[in-house]
Amino acid sequence: MSATSVDVLIIGAGAAGLMCAIAAGARGRSVRVLDHANKPGKKILMSGGGRCNFTNMHCGPDNFLSANPHFCKSALSRYTPWDFIALVEKHEVPYHEKTLGQLFCDRSSKDILNLLLAECEQVGASVETHTPVEIEQLGPPHRVRTPQETIDCESLVIATGGYSIPRMGATGWGFDFARELGLAVQATRAALVPFVFEGRKLEQLEGLAGISVDTRSTAAEGTFRENLLFTHKGLSGPAMLQVSSYWQPGEPVQIDLLPDQNLTEELKRLRRDRPRASLSTILAQHWPKRMAERWCELWFGHPTLAELSDQAIDNIVRHAQPWTVWPAGTEGYRTAEVTIGGVDTDELSSKTMEAKQQPGLFFIGEVVDVTGHLGGHNFQWAWASGQAAGQFV
Ligand code: FDA
Repeated sequence: MSATSVDVLIIGAGAAGLMCAIAAGARGRSVRVLDHANKPGKKILMSGGGRCNFTNMHCGPDNFLSANPHFCKSALSRYTPWDFIALVEKHEVPYHEKTLGQLFCDRSSKDILNLLLAECEQVGASVETHTPVEIEQLGPPHRVRTPQETIDCESLVIATGGYSIPRMGATGWGFDFARELGLAVQATRAALVPFVFEGRKLEQLEGLAGISVDTRSTAAEGTFRENLLFTHKGLSGPAMLQVSSYWQPGEPVQIDLLPDQNLTEELKRLRRDRPRASLSTILAQHWPKRMAERWCELWFGHPTLAELSDQAIDNIVRHAQPWTVWPAGTEGYRTAEVTIGGVDTDELSSKTMEAKQQPGLFFIGEVVDVTGHLGGHNFQWAWASGQAAGQFV
């Protein structure tokens, strides 16, 4: 078995690992990136529905969850969305703003992966796939074993991401490795993930699958004004993905289905002005007709407004402002966009991403306990933390 050495060895050729390789290579460091999967950047390719929501123009520390909400500030301030946009423009990748500052490729996510690989090539960083690793010794020099060789390196960077989408090669390897070293790891769970329901609640929601409505949705301290999507298993759409990051099993989710309306006032006024109108007709002015009809069928029948007492109006409003539901769970890592939790930020320098107790060992990207909201923030964290480490490896 051959033995080689390199300045910087990065485990994981995802968003964070590739960005770190570019930054380190640009400083003249020799860099190798190893990944056990058959292709680099698989999550980049599948992201944003194939168009990669590569950053968010409004990205800031408030868009992240972490046991230490201050940790992400340093890296985010040193590599901003505008820095990544400059890279995108340098490679003439066409892009557009979809909504709320979210930037997507016009063509395909491949454009982002190709630009990262082109930058790696330009700085001489090699990206190698099909390469599982074992850490033999921590130094520096650190020694890493692959099936073909042992590699000594001054800096070892863990950029192996989280558990989400195991069929894409995601593993908890980085978390396990950190734990084995005695580093604290914040409890992990699936986030940015649809909710599932069971039994009677699921039966009630049947027939609504495919309908999308504007909401203001809340779980614990997370509130988002986004669309909800009814599915055959439960509730999804950006509103549910966002609040799933704040939700704990057994807790309710509160969904204001008429975020700009005062339904009580509206129904009382219309009871006077249009007494013969049916409740479902009025609700259908705000919701898709199928939803308004199903909602009435489920809980109120088909009364005219004249038939509604004040108490009946209160009951109707309780099913909409907010509608409170108790999910049975989430779809889990199978469909989650991210893993919340990870390597405790107390173990790392926010300036360099280096482990405080382990010189020359760095953790970047999703493996760290920093999780972004939906909308390009997770990639911005991958770029910023990769860039931060890339200055010091
Ligand atoms: P990432 O998971 O990208 O890379 C880790 C790499 O390490 C992988 O290549 C993996 O194969 C490798 N690896 C793992 N274990 C290993 C081991 N033991 N040995 C060697 N290699 C190993 N975010 C966003 O901002 N905008 C978006 O549009 C989307 N869309 C989106 C869609 C879907 C379906 C998912 C699942 C996720 C998103 N995300 C997103 C989230 C985003 O993809 C995620 O936050 C980043 O990819 C994290 O980057 P990392 O480099 O940290 O991990």
